[in-house]
Amino acid sequence: MTATVQLLRTVPTRVDAIGIPVGTTGVVPRSLGLSRAALEKAGFEGKPGQTLVLPSATGSTQIAVGIGELTSLSTTVLRNAAGAVVRAAGKRATVATTLADLAGVDAAKAAQAVVEGALLAAYRYAGIKKDPNKSSLTELVLVVGEKRSSGARTGSDRGQATAAAAYLARDLANTPPGYMAARHMAERAVEVGRTSGLTVEVFNRDQLAEMGCGGMLGVNAGSTEPPRMVRLTYTPRNPVAHLAMVGKGVMFDSGGLSLKPSDGMITMKMDMSGAAAVLSAMSALKALHCKTKVTGYLMCTDNMTGGAATKLGDVLTFRNGKTSEIHNTDAEGRLVLADGLSLAVEDKPDAIVDIATLTGACMVALGTKLAGVIGNNQGFIDKVQASGATTDERTWQLPLEQAYRKLLDSNVADMRNIGGPHGGAITASLFLAEFVGDVPWAHIDMAGPMAVDADDGWLSKGATGFGTRLLIDLALSFKG
Ligand code: BES
Ligand code: MN
Ligand code: ZN
Repeated sequence: MTATVQLLRTVPTRVDAIGIPVGTTGVVPRSLGLSRAALEKAGFEGKPGQTLVLPSATGSTQIAVGIGELTSLSTTVLRNAAGAVVRAAGKRATVATTLADLAGVDAAKAAQAVVEGALLAAYRYAGIKKDPNKSSLTELVLVVGEKRSSGARTGSDRGQATAAAAYLARDLANTPPGYMAARHMAERAVEVGRTSGLTVEVFNRDQLAEMGCGGMLGVNAGSTEPPRMVRLTYTPRNPVAHLAMVGKGVMFDSGGLSLKPSDGMITMKMDMSGAAAVLSAMSALKALHCKTKVTGYLMCTDNMTGGAATKLGDVLTFRNGKTSEIHNTDAEGRLVLADGLSLAVEDKPDAIVDIATLTGACMVALGTKLAGVIGNNQGFIDKVQASGATTDERTWQLPLEQAYRKLLDSNVADMRNIGGPHGGAITASLFLAEFVGDVPWAHIDMAGPMAVDADDGWLSKGATGFGTRLLIDLALSFKG
């Protein structure tokens, strides 16, 4: 359940807390009732994200929130500040803020960022509990003056739509693997599609076999849970372009026979976060009046060790006819993506983006705040990076270095499924590149930002929903 969001012209007196922005320089809003000297004495300088909680015996708690230099005010600063206000508000249920009323950022963009930051910070995974975890926030009030109110209304609606999408992605990834097998994911996709104007087609094991999706079957071979491939289609009235999205939906990654150590396995219920991002992003396209046609592929299976599991040395044949010799069954994401990318190419889209929790190597290289992005078309990569900057789901480009392609050479098949010990995020991408033909393509490796260990700004403990808002922004801005 999401908090309700309201727009008001003046600060309401009935709310539990009010977030009031304060810069590092300039005037301190009079409503705070404190001078800059007094704030500084309390250790509050107005730095971005800083908060100072000022309880009141009679009225609402005032929360001063830092926004830094007014000259560098941005949607990122506003989103972070709104998240900080909700964190500082703690158990208080109703929160107002004047953050969306600051001049310097377009009213719609400001309101969207503030709603996103507040709602995303308020997110709690309910859990499988007798007494489910609950978000404290029930009501968010944006206080916006007359001039900005119509823009703020638009932005607030958009922010609610993008936050709801990210909530869906977080819920899907946080759900335990026994409750979220490929079958369940497909059922959820059907439900979500029905309420959000998407066409949903679900393909089972026999259909995947018929279609020649040997990557999906090979990864699924050791499992008692059947695989599901889900094709989602969003078709606006007069599409300006066509974008394809492919998501890695490894519902649980044990590593297969190349078994993971226990410590590395605990987060692997989230190895379907790419597919979750695609489904969730597409769930918001109609409400946001996206003008681009979007086709999505969710490649869903777990990766297990049963008696029929794919063995090392086995060869799989993918949808596009290429083959791979399996040298490590834990490099399974590229195998399911290979079939998904091959299918996406057949739709002749203007571009393909794939998103996957693909390599530990990418997490080692870039840490948990940045996703890697690699592709075959600089213009399209730039678009993906621009969307990531807009939504603060940031990416860093790595090179598709052809000199490493020979690390995938195999005597037995077209390629091995792993490279050498180094450059793992790049060799994984070189593998994927074999399946995109000459369609402009960008691959997002979100292994690092998949989850956080503790609440951190507008990221709430657990799955982050990374990529959901990036993909929405990309679809909305993509014109071919
Ligand atoms: N799902 C993992 C990657 C991963 C690791 C995602 C940690 C999120 C957090 C992927 O399937 C995997 O196991 N990759 C291997 C590839 C290797 C065998 C070439 C890896 O990164 O170790
Ligand atoms: Mn793996
Ligand atoms: Zn995996």
